[in-house]
This record gives sequence, C-alpha cells and structure tokens, in this order.
Amino acid sequence: MEELRNKIEKLKKKKNAVILAHYYAPSETQALADFVGDSYYLAKVARGTDADVVVFAGVGFMGESAKLLCPDKKVLMPDAAADCAMAHMASAEKIRALRSEYPDLAVVCYINSTAALKCESDVCVTSSNAVKIVKRLPNKNIFFIPDGNLGAFVKEQVPEKNIILNDGFCPVHAAVTKEDVLSAKKKHPRALVLTHPECRGEVRELSDFLGSTADIIDFAKRSDADEFIISTEDGVSFALESNDPEKKFYFVKEGFTCPDMKTNTPERVLYVLETEENEVTVDKKIAERAMLPLDRMLELAK
Ligand code: 13P
Ligand code: SF4
Repeated sequence: MEELRNKIEKLKKKKNAVILAHYYAPSETQALADFVGDSYYLAKVARGTDADVVVFAGVGFMGESAKLLCPDKKVLMPDAAADCAMAHMASAEKIRALRSEYPDLAVVCYINSTAALKCESDVCVTSSNAVKIVKRLPNKNIFFIPDGNLGAFVKEQVPEKNIILNDGFCPVHAAVTKEDVLSAKKKHPRALVLTHPECRGEVRELSDFLGSTADIIDFAKRSDADEFIISTEDGVSFALESNDPEKKFYFVKEGFTCPDMKTNTPERVLYVLETEENEVTVDKKIAERAMLPLDRMLELAK
C-alpha cells in the first residue's frame, strides 16, 4: 500500500492532479484522496480547482458533473463503468408533458442524474441543499426528478409548494425497510437513527435525523450521544470512525453497499493516473445546456 501511495503521490505532482473521493468510495481510496465529501462539496471543489487533472472516485454522474463544472480540465474515472442506477430514472417526455400542463413549472433535478436530464431541468440540487433551494425558487409548481424519496422528503419540508414526485429511486437506499430499522433499534435501544433522505418514507419516519452523507457525519460528530444506527451506504464509516473512535456506529442492515462506488479502488486510481484512460467527455452542446442548472444550484445554495 505504501508503494502504491508513493507512486500516486509522484504522478499527482508530475501531472498537477487531484483526487476527489465520495464518502461511499472504499476507505483506502478516501485515505489517499485530496478531497473527500458529499456531492455538493465535491461539485464545489471541482468548480474551484486549479489542477490540470481531476481523478473522481465516484460514479458516472459525479465525473460528468465535475467535467461540466471544470470543462478545461481532464476528468478521469477510476472505473468508467461505475454508474448510479437512479441517474437514468426520469423521462424527458414526462418533463415536457408537465411543462405544458403547468406553465410556471420548475424542474428540480437531483445531481444524481445524467447530463441529458440536466438539459431538461431548471436547477440542480443535492441532498444537502435541496430544501433550501426549493424554498428559494419563485415557482409554485415543482417537478422533482429523479428521486421520489428525496422528492417526498423535500415536499414534507416545503408544504407551501406543489411538488410533483417522480418514481425514480436509489436501489441501495430504497432496499431498507421499516423492519430493518425496528430490529436495529431493538438491538441498540439507546442509539440515534441517522438516515439519508434517499431512504423510504417508512424509514425516514423512524429516524432521529435526516441529511446528506456530510450532514450525517457532522451530526454524529457534534452529538453528545455515543451510539448511532446509520441508514446510508457503509462507506461513511471511514469518516465516522476516524472522527470519533470511541463512539459506536451500527449500520441499519448488513451489506449496505453501493457496488458501483466500491469499484474505485486505489489500484484503479493509480491506473488512470498512469494511463489517463477513462476520460470523461460531454458533447459540447449538451454541456452548454446541462451546466446551467448546476450553475444555478451553486448560486442559490450560497
Ligand atoms: P450525498 O450528496 O449525500 O453524498 O449523496 C450522494 C448519493 O449518491 C447518495 O446515494
Ligand atoms: Fe446512486 Fe444509490 Fe449508489 Fe448513491 S448509493 S450512487 S444514489 S445507486
């Protein structure tokens, strides 16, 4: 591992490269990354970087968003096939149909979406800024794509708007059930339940705190409690445990893993740094349009 780390460090210097890793990437990859964070934080880092090469240990939509936000940089994915199933779960036809039904419609697009879907949208959001941004929009009618669960969470927080939900979902988070939470609570009755809003309503209802990966990590760090049931992907354990080695973190169910995130191994990071394979490209016309909702997100989330 030390040898691999040294090789990565040398190549980073030689190529003026940075490594960005999402909290769901393997722990070993997070440990060698320059920036680790949630989708919002990593989008901001990509926008502000002065590196020439960005290696993004994440899934397709993250690399694509980074490329939109820093178009003159070379963005490399450790695994070109790592994808987020939910990113494809909305249809341009449905968006257009709703636009003609509601002339003031704002299409709010979770950043977990393809560039093609961003092209149909008015503003992007992440799980850490969705409520704030939807509240700030002047529009009464909102179509929230692609995640129906995050959309439902935002709808609960912003009852003054007419939020139309889509039926997309994260297969990893939506697999958690009420029974999983109840059984974890039975085993750990003193623990607080911290949940990502991509989980279903029945899971969110049983939770003590709802937030993005960064929000969950921050909540656990600040909390006086010392036991937590975590309802999001198990990659967050690296940050949770490094921040508070004496606190106890239990995952709500076994195998809470996004397989696409876990292909971002240090070996693959080294491979793309060496070969510069798996470069992210976005068609110029698509990029020009898809960047607009991302820019608006960065503006409205300030
Ligand atoms: P965060 O923005 O909370 O890190 O979420 C990203 C994600 O893919 C959740 O499944
Ligand atoms: Fe996509 Fe779900 Fe994996 Fe997040 S955890 S990247 S939403 S499939």
